[in-house]
Amino acid sequence: MDLYLDTAEVSEIREIAAWGVLAGVTTNPSLIARSGRPLEPTIKEICQIVQGPVSAEVVSTTAAEMIAEGRRLAAIDPHVVVKLPTTVDGLKACKALSDEGIRINMTLVFSANQALLCAKAGAWCVSPFLGRIDDISWEGMDLIREIAELFQVQNLSTRILAASIRHPRHVTQAAMLGADIATMPAKVFQQLVKHPLTDLGLKAFLEDWAKANPKV
Ligand code: E4P
Repeated sequence: MDLYLDTAEVSEIREIAAWGVLAGVTTNPSLIARSGRPLEPTIKEICQIVQGPVSAEVVSTTAAEMIAEGRRLAAIDPHVVVKLPTTVDGLKACKALSDEGIRINMTLVFSANQALLCAKAGAWCVSPFLGRIDDISWEGMDLIREIAELFQVQNLSTRILAASIRHPRHVTQAAMLGADIATMPAKVFQQLVKHPLTDLGLKAFLEDWAKANPKV
């Protein structure tokens, strides 16, 4: 499973890209707005840092406008994956842009049938939103399980991008269920590496070493 950052903050992306395990980035209109920077140079800069798939989302709502906007986004950099909402117009735009060879990330997926439709429309990946399902007291992980099984049984190659991840356990579970990608905020990415027993163990090793090797 590839690990992506879900952010438009270039400083966060630079920091985690330096770890050597970051495969891509997802953004959305809220994240771009929160960054306070214009979309195009931000996406370009993220692509240059990550050198992997970077999702940039349309803000149009009709198929014709989404197609035109999707082409403009794809022209920013070859790493751009155009993100479209899972609506009827989004499906139409997905089919048209996929036929042109543009990679599409279908977002705001909340059911297996939506994922099936997106795959049939040629989507490169679908983004089921785990956390937002958990937020309404349903089980977000059940959706990943269903989509993973459906895609396997139906031999569909569209990737599953587990999105709206809230904590490290989501990452483990999504990986075990066969999600191809998990995208998460920088805070969750940082939490993946942290364990109190690692910190305590390292402290003890270094203290023991220092005792046995006193500085002269
Ligand atoms: C995914 O591509 C979305 O940008 C994101 O994961 C949404 O997460 P949220 O529900 O925390 O806003």
